[in-house]
Amino acid sequence: MIKPDGVQRGLVGKLVQRIEEKGLKIIALKMSLMPTERAKKHYAEHAGKKFYNDLVEFITCGPSVLLVVEGKGAIADIRKMNGATNPSEAVPGTIRGDFGIETGRNVVHGSDSLESAVREIALHFQPSEILDYKRIDEPWIYE
Ligand code: RTP
Ligand code: MG
Repeated sequence: MIKPDGVQRGLVGKLVQRIEEKGLKIIALKMSLMPTERAKKHYAEHAGKKFYNDLVEFITCGPSVLLVVEGKGAIADIRKMNGATNPSEAVPGTIRGDFGIETGRNVVHGSDSLESAVREIALHFQPSEILDYKRIDEPWIYE
């Protein structure tokens, strides 16, 4: 997910480009204003923590861009590309390292496991929104 700060800062194109250039396949993509109830479910693992209310308020404050990304090692690779949760600790070259300063404005979200990905995809997407297709460069990305 490109969070509302990423959208407001005009980073959508750049961030989508990183995913495409990596060789990962975008199989769903949409902009949405996340309803509060869905945001609470999305971040349910953090319910009760001191930053939870601010997090839910922030993630619902404006449009975000939601993507489903497919590829070998996609979950780990997207997390690596996103960088450390706190942008001031994220290394240059990562999205948070290149585009952020504070944890509460860290530009992107990535599912942290297959289990989370399955849960989050089902929360945000209808099955019909997820597309199955081949990218023409696949033989040049996978050996
Ligand atoms: P994300 O879920 O957004 O991909 O980030 P993450 O796995 O790297 O970090 P996580 O621990 O899951 O935290 C979720 C989001 O909550 C905000 N946060 N604020 N103030 C704080 O201490 C704090 N800790 C986390 C961040 O926006 C983080 O991305
Ligand atoms: Mg997380």
